Amino acid sequence: MSVNSESSRQLEFMEKVREHNKGRALKYCSVVFGCQMNEKDSEKLSGMLEKMGYERTESEAEADLIIYNTCTVRENADKRLYGRLGVAKQYKKDRPGLIICLCGCMMQEEHVVEKINTSYPYVDLIFGTHNIFKFSELLFTVLETGDRVIDIWEKTDEIVEDLPSRRKYPFKSGVNIMFGCDNFCSYCIVPYVRGRERSRKREDIINEIKSLASDGVVEVMLLGQNVNSYGKGLDEEISFARLLDEAANIDGIGRVRFMTSHPKDLSEELIDTIRDNPVIARHIHLPLQSGSDRLLSLMNRHYTKDDYLRLADALRTKIPDISITTDIITGFPTEEERDVEDTIDVIKKVRFDGAFTFEYSKRTGTKAASMEGQLPKETVQRYFDEVLKKVQDISKEQAKRFEGRIMEVLVEGINEKDPSMLTGRISQNNVVHFKNCGIPVGSFAKIMLDETMGFYYNGTVWGH
Ligand code: 5AD
Ligand code: SF4
Repeated sequence: MSVNSESSRQLEFMEKVREHNKGRALKYCSVVFGCQMNEKDSEKLSGMLEKMGYERTESEAEADLIIYNTCTVRENADKRLYGRLGVAKQYKKDRPGLIICLCGCMMQEEHVVEKINTSYPYVDLIFGTHNIFKFSELLFTVLETGDRVIDIWEKTDEIVEDLPSRRKYPFKSGVNIMFGCDNFCSYCIVPYVRGRERSRKREDIINEIKSLASDGVVEVMLLGQNVNSYGKGLDEEISFARLLDEAANIDGIGRVRFMTSHPKDLSEELIDTIRDNPVIARHIHLPLQSGSDRLLSLMNRHYTKDDYLRLADALRTKIPDISITTDIITGFPTEEERDVEDTIDVIKKVRFDGAFTFEYSKRTGTKAASMEGQLPKETVQRYFDEVLKKVQDISKEQAKRFEGRIMEVLVEGINEKDPSMLTGRISQNNVVHFKNCGIPVGSFAKIMLDETMGFYYNGTVWGH
């Protein structure tokens, strides 16, 4: 089955659903948990729903169809979904015609689907990460038969292009460059729920960005679980660095971001490419996870503390303005105080501009879940607090380095709390608030960063 024939087949189902719902003004509510990949998938689901004639609402209570796109990277995400589903039960009682759909990473886990199948009988449609393109077809079956439909694929080689999408922002957009992950970090469920790594073809990606640019998008974020290994398995030989450079040279694109980099695959070529092309954001998210060699090896990360420090040093030396952010896990099985000290040592040496710190969460099916030395909650929490304090102190200090500088800001919106103010982001990804003097959202402006308030700046307009 060719890619194009599949997308046109799905477009037919969208038409069929539209026909089925004819004469009724129906609303959908899209709820997303998790990362940018899920955000992107939900934009596609929303695009399909709008093509099917549904209108968007932000309120689950007034929707005729709710679709929850789930995350399972840590246990909290699972708990949040079950909480939301509990509330949805009441909506369904109030409005029996309501259609409840579940998709995303959690649905790729057998035990989850079993639980939903037995304990949440009011869910109408369940599908996974590999077949979101089939949403319209599955929904059509639900509507026609009134039966519950469950369709989970274990894997796929297919990448279906050209489905409709509804962007959250008119001026910026995520662009998938690859799907899945082959790294099998021992704590991580992603390779099990998102499948093997598959890169999209260069020309499909570039064409998508060109078409976004002609539609008013000025900033794109190239998305993948491990963007640095982009290109594996493609006929054409192409590195991530070259793709990035090409994306940054597209007319109309003023800024290109990317997420996420794995330290083991970060090349010299990429660092030089960022340095040499000012359209590429001065920001790299480079998950450290731990500073302890012993834990890095148990985590299956394939780099050492020194490798990481050398990379950070190369980045800071070649691109002095770059902002380096990271992810850190505390409380991995067998972690001891001296491992935490190693992590803190890296934090002090790299001087992260920002960091997400996570308590280790045991994910069924991963290697780490069956390791000896799982730690008690109090220890995990103690390590977490230690690391969090350190990263917060340092990133606050780091933010001071841009004070008094005039920086290019992409205006992203009117401040929610104070409409006389605008909010935007500098290339380094920090947020800036400044007076609303009529600069249109989605344009670039020169802003003087007057002072840092810890994680954001207050600034004044310098020109645009
Ligand atoms: N427990 C805690 N944090 C995790 N992450 C991934 N899996 C787990 C887990 N089991 C974190 C990693 C990753 C980020 C997206 O989520 O830090 O980089
Ligand atoms: Fe998970 Fe590691 Fe893949 Fe990131 S690189 S998605 S942490 S397995």
